[in-house]
Amino acid sequence: MKTLQASRSITELMETAQEAVVRAGRLLHEHWREFLEAGVGFKGPVDLVTEGDRRSEATILEVIRSRYPDDAILTEERGAVGRESEYRWLVDPLDGTTNYAHGLPVFAVSVAVERQGQLLAGSVYEPATGRLYVAGRGEGARRDGRVLRVSGTRELDRSLLATGFAYNLRETDETNLDHFDHFSRRAQGIRRLGAAALDLCWVAEGWFDGFWEYRLHPWDVAAGVLLVQEAGGRVTDFFGAPLDLCRPTLDVVASNGQIHGAMLRVLELGHTGMHRASSSTP
Ligand code: IPD
Ligand code: CA
Ligand code: CA
Repeated sequence: MKTLQASRSITELMETAQEAVVRAGRLLHEHWREFLEAGVGFKGPVDLVTEGDRRSEATILEVIRSRYPDDAILTEERGAVGRESEYRWLVDPLDGTTNYAHGLPVFAVSVAVERQGQLLAGSVYEPATGRLYVAGRGEGARRDGRVLRVSGTRELDRSLLATGFAYNLRETDETNLDHFDHFSRRAQGIRRLGAAALDLCWVAEGWFDGFWEYRLHPWDVAAGVLLVQEAGGRVTDFFGAPLDLCRPTLDVVASNGQIHGAMLRVLELGHTGMHRASSSTP
């Protein structure tokens, strides 16, 4: 049974998300070498996990539980923890683990909170640069206090896009390589950074005009989705439908809104043989 809880202000939720990502992010940065020396594990053929992922996650849980001990939390490394509750936290303790494990300073910590399917607050921290992103429903999106606004680019062939490739690339026909091919011929450029949370923050910044990726998880995108929406952008699945954060995997398209239709049309080119129902694996 779900526990009924007193309603909370968006500001207090934003503060908790920020405190969690900053504390965990500093730990990841300060102990980077030591965490890698502890060894790197494999969750799949190319899916890594480090001591950094685990320690960062423990730090975030500590912050959330110290304020909201009864909340549900979904984390990447532990799955669903805590009891069912009105509020649910979505935690990616280290987005960009492959980069982190190779010493590449492109990684982030992402924490968001939702209530009955509606994202209320989210924060992403990029430890290597110290950039701190935060958004609250109806409160806008900010980086280090500066209000964020998506780009004004109207055409796909003037757009800089970002994408990523899911870890099961070797085991599926939905590789994203066909979409990559189609977008490469239509956009100004495409980047693959290896940290979906940052890809979304950078759509909110207006640095990227759009982003798409198959089979992301709710913890990868929750904070970034709110950042894009609050910065005036649009986020859907590959068919233009709203994202359902209760699904285990999500196919995500995020954009400045203006090129969204054009992005969906390009994604359709690669949908041959794909059923609508497979857009987000149940
Ligand atoms: C991964 C990154 C990457 C994306 C993968 C994600 P992780 O998250 O966001 O950019 O392409 O699909 O799983 O494993 O580094 O937290
Ligand atoms: Ca991730
Ligand atoms: Ca992760």
